[in-house]
Amino acid sequence: MFRTHTCGQLKMTDVNNEVTLAGWVQTVRKFGSITFVDLRDRYGITQLLFNESLNATLDANPLGREYVLQVKGFVSERSNKNANIATGDIEIAVSSFTILNKSITPPFTIQDDTDGGDELRMKYRFLDLRRNAVKKNLELRYAVGRSTRNYLHENNFMDIETPFLIKSTPEGARDFVVPSRMNAGEFYALPQSPQTFKQLLMVSGYDRYYQIVKCFRDEDLRADRQPEFTQIDCEMCFVEQEDILQMFEGLVRRIFKDVKNIDYTETIERMTWMNAMWNFGNDKPDIRFDMKLCNLKFPLHTFSEQSDISDLINGVDFKVFDEAETVIAIAVQGCANYTRKQTDELTEWVKRPQIGMKGLVFIKCNEDGTYKSSVDKFYTEDKLKAIATAANATVGDLILIVAGAEERTRKAASDLRMYMGTTLGLRKANDFKLLWVMDFPLFEYAEEDNRWVARHHPFTSPKPSDIDTMINNNPKIENAAEYLKHPYANIKANAYDMVLNGNEIGGGSIRIFQKELQQKMFAALGMDDAEQQHKFGFLLGAFEYGAPPHGGLAFGFDRLCAILGGSESIRDFIAFPKNNSGRDVMIDAPSIIDDKQFEELQIKLDLKA
Ligand code: AMO
Repeated sequence: MFRTHTCGQLKMTDVNNEVTLAGWVQTVRKFGSITFVDLRDRYGITQLLFNESLNATLDANPLGREYVLQVKGFVSERSNKNANIATGDIEIAVSSFTILNKSITPPFTIQDDTDGGDELRMKYRFLDLRRNAVKKNLELRYAVGRSTRNYLHENNFMDIETPFLIKSTPEGARDFVVPSRMNAGEFYALPQSPQTFKQLLMVSGYDRYYQIVKCFRDEDLRADRQPEFTQIDCEMCFVEQEDILQMFEGLVRRIFKDVKNIDYTETIERMTWMNAMWNFGNDKPDIRFDMKLCNLKFPLHTFSEQSDISDLINGVDFKVFDEAETVIAIAVQGCANYTRKQTDELTEWVKRPQIGMKGLVFIKCNEDGTYKSSVDKFYTEDKLKAIATAANATVGDLILIVAGAEERTRKAASDLRMYMGTTLGLRKANDFKLLWVMDFPLFEYAEEDNRWVARHHPFTSPKPSDIDTMINNNPKIENAAEYLKHPYANIKANAYDMVLNGNEIGGGSIRIFQKELQQKMFAALGMDDAEQQHKFGFLLGAFEYGAPPHGGLAFGFDRLCAILGGSESIRDFIAFPKNNSGRDVMIDAPSIIDDKQFEELQIKLDLKA
């Protein structure tokens, strides 16, 4: 046997047994005539003891970091036990060893706290993957996948593969395209998701489909975005929205139990998109903490259901608020004692280009019952008190107020809320809060083309009560400035996102399954009949052959793993990720290809043109 045990296995009960281990040399420590070596494999670390009888052999065959070693010896009790590792009670008294392979000095230490920077670790990812910290993440990923497969299998879902070489139909992100040699001048696209295929599978009668599948999107990268990423992609037929929500609440609860041993039994909150935007300023709120926004002033068309309280800030000739479209306050608990330096820092923070505010107004609700603000010149104490009451602030709170154009200000308020949540330690990595955000608008307005785009994707069904509005109105936007008055602006989608700790971990919808409605949808997005046929003729055709009502969703597998692992960077949970410019620095991709390949593809490349 090459090895009798792994390096994470041996205990006191194995003492006096003869064993063979194989692994990598983590450290070599010489004490006088004896040498200690930590031997590492996927399962752990075992201490090896080379006594003086092996000194001559060691001198002839010196060991170095990351050498691959096979050792034979007897398990013995350690005199100096290490409670931090599973094998810390024992060591191996080595009787013989073989160096299976040598290693040159690794560019960084293979330890949890490595001295290697990000780029270096990515270049030598195969070494980085030896580190426990990275291995733990991949183990978690594997556990999430296993739990998912078990749950979906038990619920009659069938794993069906869909193709990677498909047709380019960009909507949303850009496609990655692949030239076809056999069809010169033509291109495949890599799927942004298996959306249309899973819908076709529903038409085929595979009523519960899933796939843990790679998706490809040529979009700008962030910590939570990779050009190729993985989805847990699911679709069901003969279901209503509620059936889908419950099925996938079940999946997430199961993952929590299997992977984190957390009984997530509490009800998963549901929030409309409108309420999410109103109370939290974004559509994926982190509800681990409250700190809701107080909308002191807002364009009435945006959230017309809410009452206008702008009188609280009007009438004192404070230009910043008077000229702003939107004014939002946040009451931050217990921060009334912030120093000038701290409030100045917050002001600088909101003035950064990423946030883009011109400044920050603050009101302190002092312990002695007084109110002090940065706008005392304009607002009497009574007025400040009224604003504080509207913002739900109490004694000891600090109220932060941002003002400006609606979209930017709402985002700034949301970012500021998250920043304060982080600063005050209210966003604990081991505290998990799930949320469904629902009733999204079906359409978004694309200013540059003065037309509608699908907020989720073009296959999402409108709410049944909005179908008539969609069918009976012309999608054309006559007056760009007043697009919000167009009936399409108020159509709600039968769509839902699952949010975990302020991250969108999944999204889906009930689909359109009638050909006519799907055509109307495509037309609303500006596609004429010819374009509809060219891009989606296959789907429209399939809908003529008895398409059942259906719906589904997809989880971002990498994101889900990252958050469960306490990180917001998905790269740490992908074995071979790309860097922020979409490069794999280890294999050096993308790269140029040979002239011969261009010839075969009949592609002429002229980078100067
Ligand atoms: P959507 O585009 O919302 O829906 O994607 C589903 C989930 O995938 C994750 N995600 C990403 N993760 C990492 N990197 C990316 N670039 C990236 N883009 C998306 C997110 C997101 O919630 N076909 C539909 C699903 C459906 O309707 O059933 C779809 O792809 O967590």
